[in-house]
Amino acid sequence: MGKHITKAVIPAAGLGTRFLPATKALPKEMLPVVDKPAIQYVVEEAVMAGLNDVLVITGRNKHALANHFDRVTELEATLESKGDGHKLRMVNEATGLADMHYVRQGDPRGLGHAVLRARMHVGDQAFAVMLGDDLIDAKDDLLSRMLTVAEDREVTVIALMEVDPSVIHLYGVASIEPTDEEGLVRVTGLVEKPSAADAPSNYAIIGRYVLQPEVFDVLENTPPGKGDEIQLTDALQTLATDTSIAGGVYGVVFTGRRFDTGDKLSYIQAIIQLASERDDLGPDLRPWLKEFAKGL
Ligand code: G1P
Repeated sequence: MGKHITKAVIPAAGLGTRFLPATKALPKEMLPVVDKPAIQYVVEEAVMAGLNDVLVITGRNKHALANHFDRVTELEATLESKGDGHKLRMVNEATGLADMHYVRQGDPRGLGHAVLRARMHVGDQAFAVMLGDDLIDAKDDLLSRMLTVAEDREVTVIALMEVDPSVIHLYGVASIEPTDEEGLVRVTGLVEKPSAADAPSNYAIIGRYVLQPEVFDVLENTPPGKGDEIQLTDALQTLATDTSIAGGVYGVVFTGRRFDTGDKLSYIQAIIQLASERDDLGPDLRPWLKEFAKGL
């Protein structure tokens, strides 16, 4: 059985061009989903799964991210003097959440390149990679299950989800074989963003990975692929086909709820769904939504 995994890496250096002009000066990971920046949900998910050491791979606008997870003493003092304990707790929630670290990606050359930038921090340990665009329902224990599989078997684990063939070209896609464990498959091959005709299955990679440290050497030797970028999927393809490197690749099949906040329509849907389920907003939002929908 492998060592206990404690580190998560969140690549957050993308330019966020799909959300311009909102992302001109703000990292897209800071866009609010209801009232929390998207990245805070991801850090909370990491912490819930026991990963308290979080490295964010940032781009140009690193300050907003780092500030969000840091103290704001003036704001804390103002809220305290007003006796607004509720807001003070919300402000402090992000501050004490995890042991946060930041490294800049520099030249953005793809997800594989971003993960390589974590090498110094991660060292010789297995670690999780969590993509900020994917929000996984807090009720789901996807990441914990992935960590258990990675620790017990000392292998690489990715999260897979069945998607409609019409959207398969947006994802890394896996060929799989069943194992004797329910919801766990062995990945025999991977391809980044194939056309529907070339896709080996409809099992798409969603943004959660548990990687073994051998991935760094493989990434170093992975040439640019799709979009002329160094693709994590291509490195995983090497690890899936040569199981002598790090024990092979397994997939945990996710059947729960996931929101893609990297896409404008899904982002709006995520906000509406999450807000309508909240105790503070739901009771007013739900009847309003029904009335609103009548007029459509
Ligand atoms: C990335 C990966 C892709 C994966 C996807 C999940 O693509 O390259 O393999 O399926 O995340 O969200 P991106 O969405 O960053 O283009």
